[in-house]
Formats: sequence, structure tokens, C-alpha cells
Amino acid sequence: MRETLHLHQHLDGERFWADVEAQAAIGALETGGIRRLALDDADVAARLWLIDQAGPLGCTAFYDDLGNVFLRREGSEPELAPLLIGSHLDSQPNAGAYDGALGVVARLAVLRALHDAGAAHDRPVEVVAWTNEEGARFAPGASGSSWFAGTREREAIVAAEDDEGMPFGAALEHCLARLSASGAAHRPAPYRPHAFLELHIEQGPVLESLGCPVCVVTGIQGVTWYEVEVQGQANHAGTTPAAARQDAFMGAHRLIGALREAAETQDEALRFTIGKFRLWPDSVNTIADLARFTIDLRHPDPAVLDTLDKAFQRLAEEDWEGCRVTLGVSSRVAPVAFDAALLEALEASVASEWPEAPQIVSGAFHDAIHLARCCPTAMLFTPCRKGISHHPDEHIEKAEAVIATRALVRAVDRLLAS
Ligand code: GLV
Ligand code: MN
Ligand code: MN
Repeated sequence: MRETLHLHQHLDGERFWADVEAQAAIGALETGGIRRLALDDADVAARLWLIDQAGPLGCTAFYDDLGNVFLRREGSEPELAPLLIGSHLDSQPNAGAYDGALGVVARLAVLRALHDAGAAHDRPVEVVAWTNEEGARFAPGASGSSWFAGTREREAIVAAEDDEGMPFGAALEHCLARLSASGAAHRPAPYRPHAFLELHIEQGPVLESLGCPVCVVTGIQGVTWYEVEVQGQANHAGTTPAAARQDAFMGAHRLIGALREAAETQDEALRFTIGKFRLWPDSVNTIADLARFTIDLRHPDPAVLDTLDKAFQRLAEEDWEGCRVTLGVSSRVAPVAFDAALLEALEASVASEWPEAPQIVSGAFHDAIHLARCCPTAMLFTPCRKGISHHPDEHIEKAEAVIATRALVRAVDRLLAS
């Protein structure tokens, strides 16, 4: 093992925070927070901002066929697999400024520390911003990272449509054209990284309750996304008697009650969420003939998700107010446990900053859930106020974020030395 580079001494907390604020201004909402839906103008602008940082840091900017953006700092042995660090820049529709972006900016702080230290290292280091982690505009999420890791096919990803019928593929072409015009180089194929590290806000209450600024994340719970369609018959709201109705809303309403009851037979770690619900023809005095809704189902134990999957499929086969139900899986990602050796390295780096830090299993999914299938992967968390996230009230403290970023810098230093 080589000597470490003492990189943490070169972390510039003020510069890091200026980067956080610059990112938070892109797609900023007047009411606070940001809106950067995957591949929209603000999301592309956020990536172009990242590309602009490459030149002054002596890095090369690349983008790939899914619009993932990479900044590469060359090593003295360019053929070695890069150490990859990154997160995402897209957001939920009415989001906080730190979910994803903090991680990308913290990685940039690593590149700045390497640059300021004039550090020589054998292995290349790459910072990445993955495309469409959130899945809010195009479902499912983690598009860029899942394609890169080989867990999803490009054809299936680009076929997804947003609520206005815009295909992912068309939005991606527009994005790729702008990335190309920026001067970034095109690198079509994914590669197998030496390791992948992601720093993210916790999006839960544990770290804040312990007054702890950083911790190691040991894994991510599993998540299944469903798309449910309830097909009824449209008719006049005022004249159609109860017995003659096939009301898609009422069918969906009763079905949702039953799905929720099934979910409540499991332990309290289970998360069951219906975040989207739409009716057609969407008129005040017409019985709905179509209801569509989503289910986001999560648990750390894959057996629990399997049991509920069977229960949900059985419920879908029953009669709901005379309506027909189809229940399809749009994404199924198994729980993941991160790489033991990498966790040890992260644990040592975190202990140098905060010896009492706990270890956490992530309730949110992250790009790391896919990267873990193709290379050693692990994560760090830093707290956010009251655990609030996916909302403009999402808030982090600069001092805590700097400590967490310093732990990341220490981890990179350790990995480059090994
Ligand atoms: C990621 O945004 C998630 O929904 O867990
Ligand atoms: Mn995120
Ligand atoms: Mn998110």
C-alpha cells in the first residue's frame, strides 16, 4: 500500500459550498427548492455546468449514450479501471436542492482537492452524474446507472414515456445534442469501474436524531414499482343507477383499500405508497372508465416483497365494482448489501471524522443499487433536517456536509493508495 496523499487537508469547504449553491440555482423554484425533471432544460443545464468545471481542473468531460456525464482525472496508468464516484442531478417535480446534487458536488470537491494537492495517482478518477435517477418524469428511475451496470437494456429505457407522451428516447436525443455541442467527448460504451462510491443525503431521521454528520451505508432495501389499470365503463353521472355502474374510480378505491390491508399484514419496515393516481375521461359529470395508479413497495427482505407480490396479483384477479384490473410490474430491484472490503475502507474514513457514527441500511434507492451489481460499491450518508426530502423544505447544514465530504475525500485517498 502506498502512502495516502493527505487529501483531506486540501478540501476547500467554502469552494464546495459555493458549488452547492451554484447547482441549487439551476431550476430554482420561487417557492424554494428546485425542479429539474430528467432530461428537461434545467437538468441539461445542470450537466452542462458540470462539464464546464472540467477544463480548469485539468479533467476531460465525457458523455455516453444514456447522457451520463463523466469528468475524468487521468492517472499515471490510464489503462487501470477508474475509481468512479458520483450521483445524479435530476430532481423530483417539487424538490429540495440536495437530493443527488450534493453527491455530485462533493465528488467535484474530491477532484478539486486532487487538483489543489497536485496529486499523482496511478488509477484514473472519474466523477459521474447519472441520467434520470428519480424516475419522476420517466419511470422507472436510475436509467443511466442501470444501463451502465448492465441491469437494464437501452431499448426498454428509451421506450418509456412521460405524462405528455414524450418518449424518453426523444428527450434523450435533445440532451445528447446539447452535450455534444458543449465540446464534451462521446464515449458510447460502459466500462467496469474499479469501485463506485456515492455520498447522499440520508432522507430519513436517524443521523439528525444522533447529531451525527456522516455515516456508512451498508446496503439498500428492495423496491418494486407497479402500474395498475382499472377498466370500467363511462356513463352519465346523473342517470346511471348504482346497479348499472362500472365505476373505475370506485373499483380502484376499493382495490387500494384491499392492497393496503395486505401490506399491513407485514412488519413495520414495509413501505407502501401510491404516489400517482389519474382518472379518464376526467370530467365532473361522467363516471370514470379508466383509473391508473402506481404503487411503490419497499422492504429490506426480498421474501416479503415476493409474498406481497403474489397477494397483489391475486387481488387484481377479483371483481372490483364490475371493473377489470391489470397490475404490471414496471421495476423490480432486489435489496443489495454493499461490498465488505469497501465498507471497511469507508468505515475507517468515517471514524477519522466521527468515531461514534452508526451504520444504516438505505430506505431510498440510489444509483448505487445498480452499480453494486457490476463493481464493489458503497455509500455514505449525511443528515437532512427532520429527514425531509422530495420537498423544497429539504435542508442540510454546511458544516455537516463539509465533514461528510471530508470523509469521502479520505475514502478516495485510501482507495487510491491501496
Ligand atoms: C429515490 O429517489 C427513491 O425514491 O428512493
Ligand atoms: Mn437521490
Ligand atoms: Mn430522490
